[in-house]
Amino acid sequence: MERPCVVVARADGEATRQRLAEADLIDQSFGIEVADGDLYIPVTDPDAVPADLSVTRRDVPSRTPQRTPADLLGYEPTYERLGDVVLVDEDDPDRAAAIAEAVVESDIPVRSVLNRDSKVKGETRVRDWEVLADEGDDGAPTETVHREYGHEFAVDVDEVYFSPRLATERNRVVEQVEPGEHALDMFAGVGPYAIPMASAGAEVVACDINSEAIAYLEENAERNGVADRITTHVGDVRELTEEYADWADRLVMNLPHTAAEFADAAVAFAGESCVVHLYDIQHEDAPFERATTALEEAAGDEYAVTVLEERVVRSYAPHELNVCLDARLDRID
Ligand SMILES: C[S@@+](CC[C@H](N)C(=O)[O-])C[C@H]1O[C@@H](n2cnc3c(N)ncnc32)[C@H](O)[C@@H]1O
Repeated sequence: MERPCVVVARADGEATRQRLAEADLIDQSFGIEVADGDLYIPVTDPDAVPADLSVTRRDVPSRTPQRTPADLLGYEPTYERLGDVVLVDEDDPDRAAAIAEAVVESDIPVRSVLNRDSKVKGETRVRDWEVLADEGDDGAPTETVHREYGHEFAVDVDEVYFSPRLATERNRVVEQVEPGEHALDMFAGVGPYAIPMASAGAEVVACDINSEAIAYLEENAERNGVADRITTHVGDVRELTEEYADWADRLVMNLPHTAAEFADAAVAFAGESCVVHLYDIQHEDAPFERATTALEEAAGDEYAVTVLEERVVRSYAPHELNVCLDARLDRID
């Protein structure tokens, strides 16, 4: 549709766009057009455009407003996005079906909609999923590629554990990594700590008992260009305590409920000075007690334990918190 537009050389485009935005003159119902080195910025009132700018008429694309699932349902549903898969957690089958239908009909890019069908289970922490919608032509509806803080993770939630909710927490840990340090991810999954730590310059060892998780981690290491800085192991992480004794500058222990039971292994891996990120799920009255005590008991008189941070990651259940204890182990001479 032909609209009044400010026309400006591409080099001056951003500065002009900002000037017009500050004056609240940009017509948001239409897109900005680029042609032959010029930008055409649709404006709401051509007469109000500053005199030093040229106004013309131009056919610019209309921007249809995004239709959200909430627009279609009349209420705000709770869902998470994992790549082009949408994850919901609904007990009522009618409500689950209605949400899935609205998600598919909305303008959000979606290939499949999955409903949680069990809690996370067993050693591998994988849950069952009910497929509510599958719009894909090929591949499993549970497999996707998720983007998080500039990294890509291929993942199949039917085979491996992955939660997009923990992105901020993972980034908090990754931001502490120094180039050249030795980082051991004891319960690595598809690599959402291991791969960004390697990108930050760490030499990484990543272990998981789930061979599917390590297969995805290796694919993801290639995908993100860090395969040369990650060594992988399939198996119980305790099997590595001899090979990587006294090796680690940093340990990631993301196996809530159980990680504290691996405090002995953590102490075996620790080098002269080692930062430990130990995740737990505990009652809100004393959320860090078990993790701190486990590390102190395992350290004995070999290491001094200094608590660096007590971090509440999220609420897990009524009165239960998912927490991370950051602590440093310093060898006592
Ligand atoms: C909660 S998931 C976390 C995965 C990953 N760190 C993430 O943030 O997505 C815990 C992982 O630990 C693995 N695991 C469980 N017991 C293990 C063990 N004894 N040794 C190594 N990995 C283990 C599971 O297979 C699972 O992938």
